[in-house]
Amino acid sequence: MTVRIAPSILSADFARLGDEIAMCVEGGADWIHIDVMDGCFVPNLTYGAKVIETVRRLTTLPLDVHLMVVEPEKYFQDFVSAGADVLTIHQEAAPHLHRQLARIRELGARAGVALNPSTPVASLADVVDDIDLLLVMTVNPGFGGQRFIERSVEKIAQARALLDARGRRAAIEVDGGIARDTIARCWRAGADTFVAGNAVFAAADPRGEIGALRALCGEVA
Ligand code: DX5
Ligand code: ZN
Repeated sequence: MTVRIAPSILSADFARLGDEIAMCVEGGADWIHIDVMDGCFVPNLTYGAKVIETVRRLTTLPLDVHLMVVEPEKYFQDFVSAGADVLTIHQEAAPHLHRQLARIRELGARAGVALNPSTPVASLADVVDDIDLLLVMTVNPGFGGQRFIERSVEKIAQARALLDARGRRAAIEVDGGIARDTIARCWRAGADTFVAGNAVFAAADPRGEIGALRALCGEVA
């Protein structure tokens, strides 16, 4: 399994966004994670198509867009047009998950589903064949810099077991509190894609931190 590190620009300095993205590229980031929040599904507001389009102009790396919004389908077309490569929607915000995932793929993007800490992996049993990525939230979504929820490790293992049982190769992404002290446990449990906001952007050497996180997975591979 290949490790992917996806710095989340939620923790970036937006006054220097171009430099921050360049730092991610130089540090060897695989994807750029963009958190879209609507102040309704989560108690925080961030950004939308305009910022996706801006980041698209700054890098050729895949843009991993995490939609923490109600009625996510309203934004699919705009976000794909803006340059999103992966669109991940929340199971809790998508009553017609099967149709919504199909729509994302129809638009040419990779389709992801995210699970809040309280939502069981088994709730995705009927859409396993329709996803390219399964995102296990390792904090309650809404803010960067929160503490990793330990119970998530078992959930990652359940997600891996579900995909393996069905012979699927979808990515398993983890998001929230991923740092030097948590990443290896998630990797061992079966995650391969790691979102890191605070761990990268608040590090003394942000560029080096991307490689340091990746190396911690290598050690246990
Ligand atoms: C939280 C967001 C995350 C956030 C992670 O709701 O989905 O992507 O940026 O931040 P850290 O890595 O600081 O926990
Ligand atoms: Zn996120």
